[in-house]
Amino acid sequence: MYFIGIDLGTSGLRAILVDRFGSFVASSESNYEVSNPNPGWSEQNPESWINACKLVFHDLRDNFPKEVSKLKSIGVAGHMHGAVLLNNLHAPVRPCILWNDTRSYKEAQSLDNLSKVRDISGNIIFPGFTAPKLLWVKNNEPDIFKQIKTVVLPASYLNTWLIGTPVADMSDSAGTSWLDVKLRKWSEYLVVSSDMHLEQMPKLVEGNQIAGQIRTELASELGFPKDVIVVGGAGDNAAAACGVGAIKEGDGLVSLGTSGVLLVSRDQCKPYPDAAVHTFCHAIPEKWYQMGVILSATDSLNWLSKISGKTAAELDNLLPNEPTGPANERFFPYLSGERTPLNDAHIRAGFSGLGQTSDLTKLTQCVMEGVSFALRDCLEAIKKTGASPSSLLAIGGGSSSQFWLQTISNTLNIDLEKPKSGEFGAALGAARLAIAAIIKEPIEEIMTKPEIERKIIPNPKYVDLYLAAYEAYKKGHIYLRGLQ
Ligand code: XUL
Repeated sequence: MYFIGIDLGTSGLRAILVDRFGSFVASSESNYEVSNPNPGWSEQNPESWINACKLVFHDLRDNFPKEVSKLKSIGVAGHMHGAVLLNNLHAPVRPCILWNDTRSYKEAQSLDNLSKVRDISGNIIFPGFTAPKLLWVKNNEPDIFKQIKTVVLPASYLNTWLIGTPVADMSDSAGTSWLDVKLRKWSEYLVVSSDMHLEQMPKLVEGNQIAGQIRTELASELGFPKDVIVVGGAGDNAAAACGVGAIKEGDGLVSLGTSGVLLVSRDQCKPYPDAAVHTFCHAIPEKWYQMGVILSATDSLNWLSKISGKTAAELDNLLPNEPTGPANERFFPYLSGERTPLNDAHIRAGFSGLGQTSDLTKLTQCVMEGVSFALRDCLEAIKKTGASPSSLLAIGGGSSSQFWLQTISNTLNIDLEKPKSGEFGAALGAARLAIAAIIKEPIEEIMTKPEIERKIIPNPKYVDLYLAAYEAYKKGHIYLRGLQ
């Protein structure tokens, strides 16, 4: 038996083919664009996800025909919060408004001010979440708003394409601001607050439950068996947690992707919106997770790469493996505004302390440090919920930098574990959800932890220096706000 896990990411879609034990067989990926038609706007054409998905499916089928002929089920993970607005033919009526789009800040504020909203949704209504985007569309594109039959998230849109009906999982749906996160069901109060109806919400399933069977004509077009099952899937962060086996109380990870995430798995739903912590359903039943989210992690390094003409790897190569204390320069990584802990869509990034000796090496160092300080903000926010991870698995593209990981460990004063190279991200998490729907084994036996390549421990020589630099960094946003 074989399974496919898909990670519909912000810059591309990646699919992995695994066997019944979740062991890697093959992968394929295809990229697409984000468009920024106005400052603070971030959109993507859902058609580009389907095209990418078809490409990688064809690639896997052509190169692994024997395995694909024994495909049993598919799980999809996707970037969260994106609003895909479907008409009655399940066709998108406008481009998807993405998770890092902050145009709906006014609508977010007005929803967040409603008395019961934080209690039921368990979260601040951030501008990047789905509900305020719908109010923005209603206020600014009323003709489009009228055509909306169903609203789905990016992963759920791929599910809809695969099975023909809109079905969504709990973990991704928790990021809409329409879900009662504790009770794991749509909240009529929340849905109606953004002028939507319950009938416009997709059917809910848990991430490891069956969403439906692949459409017969699609199965023949793709050359897949006719009885392939599609599971609920997950938001990418919950899927990444499944990929590294972070499913028990206190299991934690730090993810250095486009966004930066510090996530801890929880056995209970204990929201703490005042700290700008996200509290969402996990992708498996009766579990939740909490996370701090920063909007520009590797995105900050990619920005420096763009303006310096050097790749992110070339920038990393300017640095030694071992940091020897923080730079005098500071970077505040608010290129797209910030969620945890600031909840500020307008704040923008900045450098401070630049001098004649501030060369590209120093700027690279302080960009990595700025992201690390922002992650320390996330850890402080998470601790307020009562969670206290003893170590964090380090994942995401940025985790290939030894300098960056050591800086994070020194700054957070916490042990990091770097998995051996291989599969452990959101695509594997999605594949594991697909396995869990078919193979009746305890979930912990499917969602195991990866082998660890190395442990990164805080360097006692420098921890105090990073703490002092973090204290200085914390004041930065006040100045940055004042300058705008
Ligand atoms: C989480 C969030 C991002 C996206 C990007 O709340 O907005 O991590 O899921 O992948």
